[in-house]
Amino acid sequence: LVKNGVQIKMTDEMDFDTVSLIAPEFNYEVQNVEKTVETLTKDAAFGDLDASKVSRPPIVTVMGHVDHGKTSLLDAIRKTNVVKGEAGGITQHIGAYSVKLGKDKRITFIDTPGHQAFTQMRARGANVTDIAIIVVAADDGVMPQTEEAISHAKAAEVPIIVAVNKMDRPGANFDKIKQQMMEYELVSEEWGGTTIFAPVAAINGEGIEDLLESVYLVAEMGELNANPKRSGTGIVIEAEVKKGRGNVATLLVQDGSIEVGQYIVAGKSYGRVRAMMNDLGQKTKKAMPSDPVEVLGLETTPLAGDRFDVCKTESIAKEIAEKREEEENKTIETPNSSMSLEDLFANVKTGDVKELPVVIKTDVAGTGEAIKGMLDKIHSDEVKVKVVHSAVGGISESDVLLANTANGMIIGFNVRPDGGASRLAKQSGIEIKTYSVVYELIEDIEKAMKGMLAPKLEEKSLGHLEVREIFSVPKMGVIAGCFVTDGKINRNALVRLVRDGRTVYEGKVGSLRRFKDDAKEVASGYECGVGIENYNDVKVGDVIESYEIVEVAHA
Ligand code: GTP
Ligand code: MG
Repeated sequence: LVKNGVQIKMTDEMDFDTVSLIAPEFNYEVQNVEKTVETLTKDAAFGDLDASKVSRPPIVTVMGHVDHGKTSLLDAIRKTNVVKGEAGGITQHIGAYSVKLGKDKRITFIDTPGHQAFTQMRARGANVTDIAIIVVAADDGVMPQTEEAISHAKAAEVPIIVAVNKMDRPGANFDKIKQQMMEYELVSEEWGGTTIFAPVAAINGEGIEDLLESVYLVAEMGELNANPKRSGTGIVIEAEVKKGRGNVATLLVQDGSIEVGQYIVAGKSYGRVRAMMNDLGQKTKKAMPSDPVEVLGLETTPLAGDRFDVCKTESIAKEIAEKREEEENKTIETPNSSMSLEDLFANVKTGDVKELPVVIKTDVAGTGEAIKGMLDKIHSDEVKVKVVHSAVGGISESDVLLANTANGMIIGFNVRPDGGASRLAKQSGIEIKTYSVVYELIEDIEKAMKGMLAPKLEEKSLGHLEVREIFSVPKMGVIAGCFVTDGKINRNALVRLVRDGRTVYEGKVGSLRRFKDDAKEVASGYECGVGIENYNDVKVGDVIESYEIVEVAHA
């Protein structure tokens, strides 16, 4: 260890990498037997793990710009296809539906919100999906979140079907949409490309059958298989606490199956499956590959996007949950995009931010307006607060997502974040500040704003030196033998060479010595040798001013 420059005490811990470098020198082999989430999860799996795979329904995510008719489209699909009586009057909470299209034909649809704040949900949707349907309103055309949805689908490398909706509208222009889509390399089959464009009108069901045919066609090419005989695994679509039911998580089974009574871990939450509901709200005993299912019985609320695994035993489910918690705590120390008030100072200095985006949540609407008004009045030429969203209510996960997308922070007045929001904020490094006194809030912002001003730089004089002798030292160049007349000079100082009252050179200290030794600092009344970096033309009688540049806070 010493040879490798590692300073360590007898009782210190060493990391795996270091150990595996040292041990072979003593003819030992090192194995890492530390349990990771990955190895634990492998151990947790059970059932017929090697059973041959059978075909599973395609998972189709519907994405697009806000109000272009995604939900209407899904409604239309369910209305025309769900067996009569099943759909009647049941409120759908979840954004995932399994639609039966024939005897053995099923498709799982995932609805996503089109609002710009829900980037993460679109990203998540694209990542669990086999096919993406991009919905574009024929009378509106390609919009920002259409574009974003296309990017997500492309990033996930899934086939894209374009549903051109609202074809019943007077301004509808199918060809125009096809034209616009060419910009994103989505060229329709009629025009020599490979992308299917389906004209539909969710409002009257027109074109829906053809769209579903297309989905099936594309799905069949994908050869979608899964092994229903193994323990289930998949993704949490959403999760919340419901009155009288506890933690309710909507899961999408990607492989294997889940049964009531089994143990399960979802993200950092675990528990025993107490009951399950299918997408129609009916109780069910078993969920198969590609099924969306509501699960009751988790001890805490997992986060949307978390992975879930059915586990052999409760203890292993618990262990995985705890391991995740542990690993997360390790990473919390280095949040990736933290934008706390304090951090803003640093960020602005590097010129990244000139605007502080904030999401404001308040207990009553009037307060939000008042705070907004006051924030607008806090003046600064260089920076301002930008309220991206202001609403009444507790701080929720969607506020955190919004702040994350905006790269800003959240201010709560007389409101608190819920558990999911705190966790997500911690994970994504989003600052949540809560206040109950308005002026404290304003004061904090003002302070941060001062930090946000580009720092004022000031020269701070350190001292003066008189050059009394000149030496030429091999390898070091010209060294000025100096006497410090006042103040001091240090190794990191900046210097100004003054001859007859005129500055002849400005630069940095290249070397600083007392006799033969390097010195960090030399004070007044002492002699020293000073080398000026990249400068050799020093003369006896010159004066060296030593100084440094400091940042000063704005008054
Ligand atoms: P978000 O989930 O908020 O992103 O919206 P969405 O894409 O799910 O849109 P939604 O289905 O809520 O529809 C938005 C509006 O468009 C509603 O008023 C629908 O009635 C209307 N709409 C949807 N499809 C059609 C259509 O085919 N024709 C006409 N004329 N209106 C439609
Ligand atoms: Mg919708």
